[in-house]
Parts: sequence; C-alpha cells; structure tokens
Amino acid sequence: MLTEPSARETSLPPPRDLTFAETDWDVLSRCWHPVAWSEAVEPPAPGGRGKPLSVRLLDVPLVVWRTAEGKVAVARDLCPHRGTPLSLGWTEGETVICPYHGFRFAPDGACRLIPAHPDRPIPPRMRVATFPAVERFGLVWTRLAGDLPAEEGLPVFPAWDDPAWQRVTPPFVDIAGSAGRQVEGFLDVAHFAWVHAETFADPDNPVVPPYKVTPTERGVESHYWSTVPNWPKGQEKPTPEGFLWLRHFQVFPPFCALLTIHFPGEDRLCILNAASPVSARKTRLFVPIAKNFGVNDPVEPVHAFNARIFAEDQAIVERQKPEDLPLDLTFEAHILADRMSVAYQQLLARMGLGRGFTA
Ligand code: FES
Ligand SMILES: [Fe+2]
Repeated sequence: MLTEPSARETSLPPPRDLTFAETDWDVLSRCWHPVAWSEAVEPPAPGGRGKPLSVRLLDVPLVVWRTAEGKVAVARDLCPHRGTPLSLGWTEGETVICPYHGFRFAPDGACRLIPAHPDRPIPPRMRVATFPAVERFGLVWTRLAGDLPAEEGLPVFPAWDDPAWQRVTPPFVDIAGSAGRQVEGFLDVAHFAWVHAETFADPDNPVVPPYKVTPTERGVESHYWSTVPNWPKGQEKPTPEGFLWLRHFQVFPPFCALLTIHFPGEDRLCILNAASPVSARKTRLFVPIAKNFGVNDPVEPVHAFNARIFAEDQAIVERQKPEDLPLDLTFEAHILADRMSVAYQQLLARMGLGRGFTA
C-alpha cells in the first residue's frame, strides 16, 4: 500500500554539476522516480545499528534509510554541518547519524542530537533536506520537487498486488546511457529479431505487423500482436498452430513502462521497466516482474533470463548518439514500426522536456 509521504518537503536548486539541461531537470525533479529496491533498505538491528543506502537521482546524491519502525526516509546525502555524506554513517532508531560529529537526523530532516552540546538548543537551520518516500512494486520511490501525489505519479501495475501471482525482483542494472533512450528501446518492437536472437526472438522473423498506439489517462498504450514467441531459447513449449503473441505496452512517462505478455492460455507475464535517471548519462534500471504461472518456481532462472535480455539491450543503448533521446522528431528518421517510440517522444515533449536540446 502507499504510505503517506511523511517527510517535510524541501525543494532543491539544481545541483552545480548538472548533466541535464536545466529546463529538463526542472520537469524531471517534479516526477516520481524509483531509487532502490525496498528489500535493500533494512531497518537497524533491534537496539543496534543499520546501514543507510547511498543513491543518486537526477545528479543529486541521496541517503535512503529505514527506521526501526519500518518507515523509509529519503534525504539529501549531505550533512548541513560540514557537508559529510550521511550515507557514510549509520542508522539507529528513527535517525541517520553523521559519521563526522555524530549529529542525528530524523526522517523529517530535523536534527535530534548534537553530541558536542547535548544540553544546548539545536539551531533551526541544522536540518537536512528531505523528500517524500513511498514504497510500491517492491521499490522505494521519491521526487525532488513539486507536489504531485504518488497516486498520480507512479505507474499502475495491478498484477503486482494480486496474491495469486509470483513477484520477482531481479538485481538492478546500471546502464551508461540516458533513461529516455533506455525506455525507448524497451518499447521498440523491431529490434527483437536483431538484438534478442539468442534469447527469445528469431532472426528469420524480422517483420513487424502494423499496430496501433492509443492515448491513455496517463500516457499511451499499444497492443502488439506478432508471431514472435517469448519462450527462453531451449525452453520452448508447445504453442497452438497460428498462435499470435500479444504484447501490451503501457507507458507511464517519463521513464516507466509496463509490458504484459500474453502466453498461450491464460498465462501472463508483466514486466515493469522502471528506469531511474541517475544522471543524463546514467540510468539504474529496476524491473519488478509479476507472473501468474509457475508461481512457486525458483526465481533465479527469471533473474538470469532477464539479465541476458537487458545485457543485449545495454550493448546498444550505451553506444547510441546523441545520448539524449532527441525529442525533435526531425532529428532522426522513423519507420512504421516506430509508432510507439514516436508517441513516447511526443509524450516527453508535451511534459516540457527537450526544450534545452531543441532551443
Ligand atoms: S559534518 Fe555531519 S555532524 Fe559534522
Ligand atoms: Fe530489447
């Protein structure tokens, strides 16, 4: 369930070593992004210490920790006293503790203790900037600015909450490429026969049948029917004669997309591509998966298959130029199969992204 953002909300100016166009950063900082797997953010040991997590979002270093009560907190990874990363310290109770002089900070950013002067009042300016945090789809999500409620900013992924489905949380993948390029690649259906020939697709089946893209409340979707199966190579199962595989893509801009693959019968595999824009040149890709078949099977083979597919994609996305996804549609040439990618670029442009690039 969504937990109410509890942190005092603090907007930041863009960081000085910004890799984004400032106009893009302004737009992206108001959006929700995933920053960590929930299971990686552990509470302190009972009566003892825990380890906060250091992450980066939109060029901003963040510290993520879980309180003894189980609540997740996200703050700027910068002690307001002398600029030490709080993530170098540890957690105790509800607080994160700076390793330099031991100041303690609560999830709302307030300083709770200055060990050098335990009896003196704490200066009001001794606060760390904090950001709202919610846990959803096995992930911790946050945003750096604005007031967009999580319900409106997070993807919609009902299968995740169905207790009859198996949930899989493969290790994240760090990509030396932009989130826009990565998501565009996830939506691209013409590359299967070329990039994924060794994992699931067929190099002799490159034709992309026509498909439609339609607007949704939050973004766009497409229903892509083709003969490209989704069996891992070497583990193919009998498929009815003439069976068409449906891949249902739903885009949640800026950087999430849900793919539901319809296997023969009622078997379904849902893959949420949740790309975290670490910087304009780095992306941390989280892929929560839910499936309604083989629900008691070990998850390792799913992790391994997923890792191979995303490694195949990574080899391309890390070499594309320009690194930013061009939102001026005249910049690259398009084919009919690119409908979804063109619609995605238009969505991002409508959010106000790409102005720095095209100006
Ligand atoms: S730098 Fe963090 S307590 Fe001094
Ligand atoms: Fe791919």
